[in-house]
Amino acid sequence: MINTPVQHSESARLEAKVDSVLKRMTLEEKVGQLNQYSGFWDITGPTPKEGQAAKKYADLKKGLVGSMLNVKGVKDIKALQKIAVEQTRLGIPLIFGFDVIHGYKTISPIPLAESASWDMEAIKKSSAMAAEEAAAVGINWTFAPMVDVGRDARWGRVMEGAGEDAFLGSKIATARVQGFQGVDLAATNTILACAKHFAGYAFAEAGKEYNTVDVSETVLQNIIFPPFKAAVDAGVSTFMNSFSQLNGIPATGNNYLQRQILKGDWKFNGFVVSDWGSIKELVNHGFAKDSKQAAEIAINAGSDMDMESSAYVNHLVSLVQEGKVKESVVDDAVKRILKLKFELGLFKDPYKYCDENREKETVGKPEFHAEVLDMAKKSIVLLKNEKELLPLKKTAQKIAIIGALANDKTSPLGNWRIAADENTAVSVLEGMQNYKGNQITYAKGADVIIGTTAFVLETKINMTDKSGFAEAIAVAKQADVVVMVLGEHGLQSGEGRSRADIGLPGVQQELLEEIFKVNPNVVLVLNNGRPLAIPWAAENIPAIVEAWQLGTQSGNAIAQVLYGDYNPSGKLPMTFPRSVGQLPLYYNYTSTGRPVMDEPDSVFWSHYIDEKNTPLYPFGHGLSYSKFEYSNLVLSTPSFAPGGRLLASVTVKNVGKVSGKEVVQMYIRDLVGSTARPVKELKGFELIELEPNESKKVDFIIDQNTIQFFTANSKWEAEEGDFNIFVGGSSFTTLETSFQYVN
Ligand code: GLC
Repeated sequence: MINTPVQHSESARLEAKVDSVLKRMTLEEKVGQLNQYSGFWDITGPTPKEGQAAKKYADLKKGLVGSMLNVKGVKDIKALQKIAVEQTRLGIPLIFGFDVIHGYKTISPIPLAESASWDMEAIKKSSAMAAEEAAAVGINWTFAPMVDVGRDARWGRVMEGAGEDAFLGSKIATARVQGFQGVDLAATNTILACAKHFAGYAFAEAGKEYNTVDVSETVLQNIIFPPFKAAVDAGVSTFMNSFSQLNGIPATGNNYLQRQILKGDWKFNGFVVSDWGSIKELVNHGFAKDSKQAAEIAINAGSDMDMESSAYVNHLVSLVQEGKVKESVVDDAVKRILKLKFELGLFKDPYKYCDENREKETVGKPEFHAEVLDMAKKSIVLLKNEKELLPLKKTAQKIAIIGALANDKTSPLGNWRIAADENTAVSVLEGMQNYKGNQITYAKGADVIIGTTAFVLETKINMTDKSGFAEAIAVAKQADVVVMVLGEHGLQSGEGRSRADIGLPGVQQELLEEIFKVNPNVVLVLNNGRPLAIPWAAENIPAIVEAWQLGTQSGNAIAQVLYGDYNPSGKLPMTFPRSVGQLPLYYNYTSTGRPVMDEPDSVFWSHYIDEKNTPLYPFGHGLSYSKFEYSNLVLSTPSFAPGGRLLASVTVKNVGKVSGKEVVQMYIRDLVGSTARPVKELKGFELIELEPNESKKVDFIIDQNTIQFFTANSKWEAEEGDFNIFVGGSSFTTLETSFQYVN
């Protein structure tokens, strides 16, 4: 992937333009630029006369709004822009933000699924497609990529990220930022990206949504920060802070995060938007006595724009007049915002993104469907395939398809599909029916959710209905093979959807066991937004396919993998545990002082008495219809010194019968460090494609950057010593050797 970060102009000319606008602004107008409202009223309808909409409308006309979010379509966006540009004193254009998390109208796989492709070019293209479709409807800015490293599958928003690893997450953050932003922010097919949620949100205690985060500086620096730093290095234009409280200080009011690290050490010169209402929520945190003090804390801590709390527009003017906030602090925030409005070209032509013809030509175009289908196929992970059950034969087979999710055209769109229309995904049933050679039957078996407001609690309490079992069992009995599509509805992960249990929701587990009793030839296709604990299935079901929520072309992608027209190549970006009790469970854990049982039947070692330590499926795991053999791991030299490097080479051979892709993964262990080091850390990977019997030598460069970490000296550095290196097709690697770094 060519690393072509957008070049934010540092030119004096741009500075001069920004300053020329700033000096004409009143304090009220400056504060207005820091105020962002969500649009929900009928914008082109009658002017709202009362309530929140009327207040927002009035502020808009006074020039007290700098940005809107959740406004959809050229018509509405243009109407709002006209008010800002033509009816306010200075005519400063608005910037329109939207959660284009994995597509706008044409939906790609959820981000956790895309991450399973380990294909940076594909991920970049997917983001570029989303940007083109969103920009065509007038949107300038997406609240993505979410780069929170997540280790706890109970947390609903793991679906929105790139999994548990900082190295993979950093590569994906780069690909997504570059995909959204392209190389020219003024182009009408690119949008600003936003790295979120800064920082630590995914480490919410017990995986409970919005919960307290308390992590060490070692974890913050080595695990949580790297993908955010990668986003800055990739030229990300904006950041969004987190709802959560980090080590006692809420992110929105956290000087260390936003001023010392982000705008200081990392020299970030974009702007920070608060998350929805998080400024006012400083009061709930017990960190501000009222919304006025919250505004004072937040602006001084580096939160530049206030999303939907009105704390800034209500209090900042008086805070400046009372000397509690310096006007220069407000000016800095305003300049950061104006600069990006200039870079987007909005001052030159505020309506450049509002072209109704381009909107008609672009939204939902066939090329986008081809793109999301390709991305979906690459996101599928083959977890298990015994008895060569897969790929399925294309003719003369009786195939029973069972499960509510198999016939669901909305769930595959996932949780973050706020612009996509319901029932626009290709279902598994439709995808399978596109293959005409077999006899397909279908039975629902059991529902997953009731209606479309699924909350796990409701599902658990209400989903006991087994009345569909008999029909499903009858259908399964008649079939050669049963394809069971089970898992979570798209609304059972995402924001506000933490789960205390990560098994199959409702009565799906019972359904699976009943079907297996009458027909053991079961292919389990999982639709889910998080790793699931499915130990019984892993033990008994011969073939298991991880198909996440794959977006608009979901059913076609799944069918093409099941029939072998696409050889699955995905690898897990997040560990699948045996049970929820193991969480948080991740591959790059530290050893502890008692990693193994040192005497027969001893209990005095790091383990559970009622569960194994190992995962069900490890980070990096994924099978293929091919088979890959690793051999000949050699190093160019057994050690290197500062400024030096070594080359690790491995040979990979396709000993299978069909061509296939493999993600060759390289891990390092630093055996002794100034802090306890992980037993393994991903430090390199390469996606290769091999014909049957073809071999390829894959090289990895190892230098100080490879082994550096944030040490006990509170700085990033490489420490001398002994290292192990592992290479294989998952974090349960096959080949190992060692090297030294000699200072
Ligand atoms: C939400 C999310 C954030 C999103 C924002 C705007 O609460 O936390 O990720 O971008 O509000 O919808």
